Amino acid sequence: MTTHLIIGGTGKTGRRVASLLHDRDFPVTSLSRPSFDWNDPATWSSVERPADSAYLTFAPDLTFPGAPEAVAEVADRMARAGVRRIVLLSGRGEAQAQRAECLVAEAAQRYGASWGTVRCAFFMQNFDESLFAEPLGAGHLAFTAGDVREPFVDLDDVAEVAVAMMLGEAPVNRAYELTGPRLMTFADATADIAAAVGRPIAYEQVTTAHLVADLVDAGLPVDEAGGLAELFGEILDGHNAHVVDGVREALGRPARDFADYAARAVAAGAWNGGEVAS
Ligand SMILES: NC(=O)c1ccc[n+]([C@@H]2O[C@H](COP(=O)([O-])OP(=O)(O)OC[C@H]3O[C@@H](n4cnc5c(N)ncnc54)[C@H](OP(=O)(O)O)[C@@H]3O)[C@@H](O)[C@H]2O)c1
Repeated sequence: MTTHLIIGGTGKTGRRVASLLHDRDFPVTSLSRPSFDWNDPATWSSVERPADSAYLTFAPDLTFPGAPEAVAEVADRMARAGVRRIVLLSGRGEAQAQRAECLVAEAAQRYGASWGTVRCAFFMQNFDESLFAEPLGAGHLAFTAGDVREPFVDLDDVAEVAVAMMLGEAPVNRAYELTGPRLMTFADATADIAAAVGRPIAYEQVTTAHLVADLVDAGLPVDEAGGLAELFGEILDGHNAHVVDGVREALGRPARDFADYAARAVAAGAWNGGEVAS
């Protein structure tokens, strides 16, 4: 019996993909540091094993320098070793991410493998499993976005679409562009979270320099903080401010709404005074 390979299986999307596959008794091989490290090409041979499918996530972000070439090289090694379907996690409206998608598709096709892309809007789970969790728990979120609206996507939807492609239950050799059902500002999202938690939470728009300082205070290396702040400016300039129907195309049902996500996160213990939900 072969397996399903997950690169970044401990990450926000990777662990959901692993859990869906486990629930259906499919064997999963999960790779992350130290056995596989994007910063150490000597570890990339760990992906060279036959598998029914692979879920490929890059960290910290596909828009970082060298990322498209790195994912292309890893996809090439997978396909050459006999991985039959490669599904890439990608970002919406980001030129470099779309270049990575093309390179991964070419690598798969070179060896007769199939490919797929989950091309995602800003994750809802960034609010409770990532950078925003602690400030929201403390009652005050400071971020650079102003009036721009974003169709935040639920990672449980993203994982379901990825698994459907990995198992051949949704058509492959294509990208699914995945958004939630509603355009919202970051202040709207904060208000939905405050309503779900049952106490006030303030949203404050701040400068890029302020955000970078906050990210460095939160423990990010300066380069990564600067890169992320630059990325936020690029993706949140209004060009992604439209809802699309990729979740329904892949799964035949509507995408989950932000208010449902916030209620589930609260039930799981999110935003309870600065503790990050596990
Ligand atoms: N955040 C968004 O709103 C958004 C939207 C669209 C697309 N994306 C894309 O999502 C991807 C990030 O996914 P995510 O947010 O789910 O990740 P995440 O939750 O931050 O998890 C990162 C995963 O990668 C692993 N990892 C970290 N550094 C690594 C390294 N140097 N080498 C190998 N593995 C490493 C981590 O495991 P260990 O720490 O155990 O190694 C973990 O499994 C990026 O490529 C980005 O372009 C993000």
